[in-house]
Amino acid sequence: MLQVKVVRKTREAEGVFSYEFAAISGQSLPAFSAGSHIDVHLPNGLVRQYSLCNHPDDLQHYQIGVLLDPASRGGSKAMHEQVSEGDHLKISEPRNLFPLTHAARRSVLFAGGIGITPILCMAERLAQIDANFTMHYCSRSEDRTAFVERIKQSHFAGQVSFHFDDLSPEQRLQAPKVLSGYTEGDHLYVCGPGGFMEFILSAAREAGWPEASLHREYFAAAPQQAGESGSFEIQLASSGRRLVIPAERTVAEVLLEAGVDIPLSCEQGICGTCVTRVLEGEPDHRDMFLTPEEQARNDQFTPCCSRAKSTCLVLDL
Ligand code: FES
Repeated sequence: MLQVKVVRKTREAEGVFSYEFAAISGQSLPAFSAGSHIDVHLPNGLVRQYSLCNHPDDLQHYQIGVLLDPASRGGSKAMHEQVSEGDHLKISEPRNLFPLTHAARRSVLFAGGIGITPILCMAERLAQIDANFTMHYCSRSEDRTAFVERIKQSHFAGQVSFHFDDLSPEQRLQAPKVLSGYTEGDHLYVCGPGGFMEFILSAAREAGWPEASLHREYFAAAPQQAGESGSFEIQLASSGRRLVIPAERTVAEVLLEAGVDIPLSCEQGICGTCVTRVLEGEPDHRDMFLTPEEQARNDQFTPCCSRAKSTCLVLDL
């Protein structure tokens, strides 16, 4: 855990603030790579993940961008209303679940709204190593678009296309055109709302991009549909102990209550911290961390949110 001070809070766009953190000790912060995120421990006790959006070479600061979500479950609201310049916060060391492939032939970056945060960091890194890349930044309107000036002032501004929903149809994103001509070694990175990411990923698959070239990071869990969660059992392989998971509880909650230590962070199926091996049974994957191929293997799942299609899951615990 790192102790940091909020050294700057800046309004970046309608509903978006950026925050710059520096170590209270005055020392450098741990190094990170583009695509990394940190856990921020909020004053209200919640823990939320935010992507770092400053240049990875700047180790005096970490910068994050936070959109106030009208449907906030307490995270973005607390960041906007309870965190000010001068405050002290606890954060985790950066972790990267969305790394760049530095040797890519071509990289195509897509950001939807506040999904710009890891994508901007990636663009800055790709520009620094003189890589072949383009970036597409989609947003509802310019006043809701964070970091526009920073991008326009950057030396990679010519590789960036902005697409605003409220402007002319000609400047909207033509995904099939942008994604045409896939060649081995091309990589795609997308971050944004679930619907935006699904749109980009489907367009890429249709254009012939293989799954291994598609990289995504969700920043909020899709709302779980009600009525889908029945009860089931889990069995701990080490002891044979069986535990019932009632419809309204998660596997992680039941495990923790039973004294089985499961590392947790996002508790929404985004970060992958809780991934646990499944030895028998068929999980009902509800996470957005595992790729479709990994989910299809059914040999691991995320106990913070995923459930079971079979009556019992045997876990490697
Ligand atoms: Fe983040 Fe389970 S705690 S995926």
